[in-house]
Amino acid sequence: MNTTQNVKRPIVLSGVKPTGIPTLGNYLGALKNFAKLQNEMTEYDFYIFVADLHAITVPQDPKELKQNIRNVAALYLACGLEPERLVLFLQSEVHAHAELGYVMQSISYMGELERMTQFKDKVAKNATQGVTSALFTYPALMAADILLYDAKYVPVGDDQKQHLELTRDLGTRFNNRFGNTFVIPECLVTKQGSRIMDLQEPTKKMSKSENENKGCIFLLEPLNSIKKKIKSAVTDSEACVRYADGKDGINNLMTIYSCCTGKSFEEIEKEFDGKGYGDFKTAVGEAVVKELEPIQTKYKELIN
Ligand code: AQP
Repeated sequence: MNTTQNVKRPIVLSGVKPTGIPTLGNYLGALKNFAKLQNEMTEYDFYIFVADLHAITVPQDPKELKQNIRNVAALYLACGLEPERLVLFLQSEVHAHAELGYVMQSISYMGELERMTQFKDKVAKNATQGVTSALFTYPALMAADILLYDAKYVPVGDDQKQHLELTRDLGTRFNNRFGNTFVIPECLVTKQGSRIMDLQEPTKKMSKSENENKGCIFLLEPLNSIKKKIKSAVTDSEACVRYADGKDGINNLMTIYSCCTGKSFEEIEKEFDGKGYGDFKTAVGEAVVKELEPIQTKYKELIN
């Protein structure tokens, strides 16, 4: 790591849960942004971890979990993070995460944890399997993950903004009660792609633990299957490529296309003026494949 002796460089920190193969949502909202920020924020060190303690808040098969941990680590590098400027680690191997997590639980209130949208969504999803207490206290552990390193910036997708706000509240509360201890972090959310939606249910976030879902694109899935999923994405009956309220499916595909090509919505609307959704979906499929193919190649080299 490129640090100057005795001078602590500011830290950018983030993590991904190994609950499955990361999706196009995880990539556009987080992984792609990590690599971009690493290129731009040359005066910062990057602490990026595999959040396995967060993964076990819902049931996991131990063998699959182990494989998923390796996959997430390899995908960080395949997506462009540079090992020289990176501290890449496994959350459970640094015991201080669980220790400070407990302290954060001790200063967080039931009411504020109950308000977390992600907790409510996961409760609805895991109702039949039972909801663990760790799922409930997940945001306190996330606060510890961040505060432990005095991280200045935390790049995350839109769904993690609420947890980041709670982290700031808990850090501030601790500092007020016990003296100035923690740096209060700031959230970095990418302008475009911070909330990629499910292709079949475009009002719902794309999530990696939706294993059987036709609406999710997984970073390691065969390229043909990716194109097929995009071809069968839910759209609307207007047959006009434009970004507008109520056109959730098209808005999502336009966002994906924009993230992969760098084109603005205006440029996309012009490009597909007078063309149907079939042509648009073909172009989106090709753009996604162009983006993911080199990542898959690099991943294979690394994992082998
Ligand atoms: N659909 C999404 N669009 C954009 N960004 C997303 N992220 C997640 N889903 C999307 C961002 O990816 C990073 C890693 O997420 P995580 O693995 O820590 O947890 P998550 O947010 O709960 O992601 P998933 O895919 O939905 O996992 P499961 O299914 O296990 O709950 C975060 O920065 C997140 O914002």
